[in-house]
Amino acid sequence: MITEYVSMTEEEPDGAAIARAGDILKRGGLVAFPTETVYGLGGDALNPESARKIYAAKGRPSDNPLIVHICRPEAAERIAERIPEAYHILAERFWPGPLTMILPKSRLVPPETTGGLDTVAIRFPRNRIALALIEAGGGYVAAPSANRSGRPSPTLARYCREDLDGLVDMIIDGGQVDIGVESSIIDLSGETPTILRPGFVTKEMLEDALGSVALDRTILGGSSGERPRAPGMKYRHYAPRGELSIVEGAAAEVIRYINERTAEAAGHGLRTGVICTDETRDRYRADSVKSAGTRTEERMVARELFRILREFDDEGVQLIFSEAFADDGIGMAVMNRLMKAAGHRVIDLT
Ligand code: TXA
Ligand code: MG
Repeated sequence: MITEYVSMTEEEPDGAAIARAGDILKRGGLVAFPTETVYGLGGDALNPESARKIYAAKGRPSDNPLIVHICRPEAAERIAERIPEAYHILAERFWPGPLTMILPKSRLVPPETTGGLDTVAIRFPRNRIALALIEAGGGYVAAPSANRSGRPSPTLARYCREDLDGLVDMIIDGGQVDIGVESSIIDLSGETPTILRPGFVTKEMLEDALGSVALDRTILGGSSGERPRAPGMKYRHYAPRGELSIVEGAAAEVIRYINERTAEAAGHGLRTGVICTDETRDRYRADSVKSAGTRTEERMVARELFRILREFDDEGVQLIFSEAFADDGIGMAVMNRLMKAAGHRVIDLT
């Protein structure tokens, strides 16, 4: 398949290209597109054949359900069996935006889209290119992150091309995404609203809206053997090709430890990398030292993380150490993704 590339900005979506992309979706084809979180790999959510194609293009196991993207909140009524009060509260407060809600599904949604589950994940994104595409494609677009399974989610169209060239019909370049980690996911299908994946909409924000919410226990935990309730969270995700470890402890200790280990590895001929912050970057001596921004601006860290992981791959870095970040607020999303990327390898110096 030859992939068509188009480029546009949120301020000026290219109407003709969006119309072509919409036709591709309606015919059962695939289009990668920007959202405010990460790039998505879109197909018609109501067409079982499209879901099969998405799994094939990503190389993703088909028991891992897809998020259905809508472009107006009422659209949820056709694909959900029942809509609880909490849904209205959260939709009012956070949509359009980086929050996905899980509800019992209606019969309109084929089991291929939900990985056989009787619930459906619904998201109303706020990126205007995404919204125009969803509208043009019929209103229900299933879209996982537009990476090959196991690789970091793409924050730039260039990374969609790296992973999916020749595997999808079109890739829409809309520039660098705004947030950089995938949407928060909250399950509203049971008794207690439960966060299955942390994101930009934090636990604190959700509690402020709903009162108490639970947190799926596998979110920051290691290999407890427990199964996460979002099936996708069980896979080794976001993994760079090099071996990544997170080093926790007092700053001076962390720096000393990482410098010792990277010097030793360099002695064995390995290329080394470090993920740090502006405050500490000058103190490392690895081959590739990357700052994710300043420690006080957790938003920046979220935005840069996946790009940094991919850059280490491009540079052939074989051994990577990362500083740890605070795990409250948006930091919880950052640490959740970092822990997965590291396969839960944590070196605790405390
Ligand atoms: O920000 C995002 O959510 C991005 C953009 C493209 O919108 N999409 C995204 O999709 O991250 P994906 O497929 O990479 O991650 C979806 C996650 C997976 O962990 C999946 O298991 C979980 O959502 N999920 C989807 N439907 C579910 C359901 N019915 N019950 C539980 N978990 C579900
Ligand atoms: Mg993904």
